[in-house]
Amino acid sequence: MYEFTYRFYEKKNQLKSGVNVRQSNKKEEYIVKNFPCQDPILTEIKHSLYEDRMDGIQIGEIEARFLQFLIKTHGVRSIVEIGTLYGFSTLAMAQALPENGKIYSLDLSPKHHEKAHFFLQKSPHWPRIELLTGDAKQSLSGLEEKGPFDLVFIDADKSSYLHYLDWAEQHTRTGSLIIGDNTLLFDTLWGGDRGIEVSPQSQKVMTEFNRRLADQQNYNSVLIPTAEGLTVGIRN
Ligand SMILES: C[S@@+](CC[C@H](N)C(=O)[O-])C[C@H]1O[C@@H](n2cnc3c(N)ncnc32)[C@H](O)[C@@H]1O
Repeated sequence: MYEFTYRFYEKKNQLKSGVNVRQSNKKEEYIVKNFPCQDPILTEIKHSLYEDRMDGIQIGEIEARFLQFLIKTHGVRSIVEIGTLYGFSTLAMAQALPENGKIYSLDLSPKHHEKAHFFLQKSPHWPRIELLTGDAKQSLSGLEEKGPFDLVFIDADKSSYLHYLDWAEQHTRTGSLIIGDNTLLFDTLWGGDRGIEVSPQSQKVMTEFNRRLADQQNYNSVLIPTAEGLTVGIRN
């Protein structure tokens, strides 16, 4: 799935000549212009992703503002993020944490973490950020004693979303947030066609991920129709 992501973005970049591959439109432009995520390091990260032809893999500014809103309204202090990339979402979430808050951000790629470290260590929020490099399925077990967590943000290999959801359910508590990005699986779950191939296995996994979070016995939840789909569940 990791490789798939890059094949996908290569393909989209070819189609769109390297412009932001998240579908953008005038409505989004209006919202981002009026509700921006103003931070010079976030801007640097975006430029770097653009230069490396990966702009659009990170969450958008609307999602970033929404995550910050949730962190503040829910009094979130501890976050586990699965999928750092260059640290855009990590920093956006760290900005909303209180002084004694902490975000652990996991990524498989040492190259991505090198970049993330370069940008994030310049931020005043760096003391609240810890990067854990390696396969999240391993790194998560090392975090268990630091839980339970107030928020788990899942934004990595799609085929592992159910594994991450199982872990999140074991290491959060009532009132904690479990959030997954890309939960419309490039529009394939509702029959949209962006010319993106997705494996039947990933479709099965994401369908089940959404089904579990939609269960009102266990969650107050919503699938927000952002460009990529953002499923937000508050644990009952
Ligand atoms: C969509 S990007 C994350 C974007 C980031 N959350 C943001 O919005 O700025 C997905 C990341 O997941 C990482 N990844 C893929 N498979 C992984 C795994 N098994 N364990 C940890 N990270 C993984 C990739 O290296 C990539 O950096």
